[in-house]
Amino acid sequence: RTYTVAIVGATGAVGEAMLAILEERDFPVGKLVALASERSAGEDITFRKRAITVQDLATFDPAGVDIALFSAGGSVSLEYAPKFAAAGAIVIDNSSAFRYDADIPLVVSEVNPEQVHRRPRGIIANPNCSTMQMLVALAPIHREAGIERINVATYQSVSGAGRSGMDELGRQTAALLNFAQLEPAKFAVQIAFNLIPQIDDFQDNGYTKEEMKLVWETRKILGDDSIQVNPTAVRVPVFYGHSEAVHLETRRPITAERVRELLEAAPGVEVVDERVPGGYPTPVTHASGTDPVYVGRIRQDISHPRGIDLWIVSDNIRKGAALNAVQIAELLVK
Ligand code: A2P
Repeated sequence: RTYTVAIVGATGAVGEAMLAILEERDFPVGKLVALASERSAGEDITFRKRAITVQDLATFDPAGVDIALFSAGGSVSLEYAPKFAAAGAIVIDNSSAFRYDADIPLVVSEVNPEQVHRRPRGIIANPNCSTMQMLVALAPIHREAGIERINVATYQSVSGAGRSGMDELGRQTAALLNFAQLEPAKFAVQIAFNLIPQIDDFQDNGYTKEEMKLVWETRKILGDDSIQVNPTAVRVPVFYGHSEAVHLETRRPITAERVRELLEAAPGVEVVDERVPGGYPTPVTHASGTDPVYVGRIRQDISHPRGIDLWIVSDNIRKGAALNAVQIAELLVK
């Protein structure tokens, strides 16, 4: 059989990738519905070489939709995801609106696929991009040695902030190279040729919400509230691909060789780890536009008897968002 699939946020950076990935993976789409705000209603997007007119979400009737992929921000999900679910659709939501609710599964397709079947509200949440790529790589290590603590610093590309984030980096870079200025709008300070140690809002504990997502989501997806996570999330002037320097402490000792072996066998992971110049993954040389979670720089921590260091890179729009959402849809129809 085929399915009626709705993309909410079809004109956005993630929505566009969802369309491309549904097509690439030959998902059994019978009818595709493209939805966005009234700003872009009436525009055309392309799916399977055919033009599809974008409709206004606010006036769309969800009856008949089988699967809805939402990526239009938290407030849109809060308002419309329950309406789609009530009309009979299964919603796969890329926002953080429902991720922390106990009765909403939070699924990484390689890590906890069985959770898609326990969805009392008809909504499945897609994890945050940084958590997604980290757990694809860490789950096999956790299963074997138990992870006690994760120290992680992220280097996150501007596409994670949507189209307007990419526009700002491009235009600001061009302006500066022409001895002009472009005032920050999307980001708090200049992003071109700079680094910004803030993603999402500050919380009372001094961490940002992006950092706390790594804490909350890691525990929920691995099903272990005792895992300690200490993140710093940084926005970097890269268009596509998030990178993470991960320092983890396991419960039982594990060697770097064993970690490499586990990762070489892990679904969704590609090990790129030659100790020569360029023998490691970067957003531009490996991740951008591709599906795997790349892991390199695998080594024993010289400062801790049960410490392992890793460098994890992946395309935040693909595995970090659109690809995993489509993989969840594939699990549903399997
Ligand atoms: P629109 O093109 O109408 O603004 P990005 O993350 O790249 O910024 O994309 C956000 C996506 O979410 C876009 O497709 C955008 O549509 C959509 N969107 C934003 N706000 C709304 C809304 N209130 N209702 C429906 N879609 C929305």
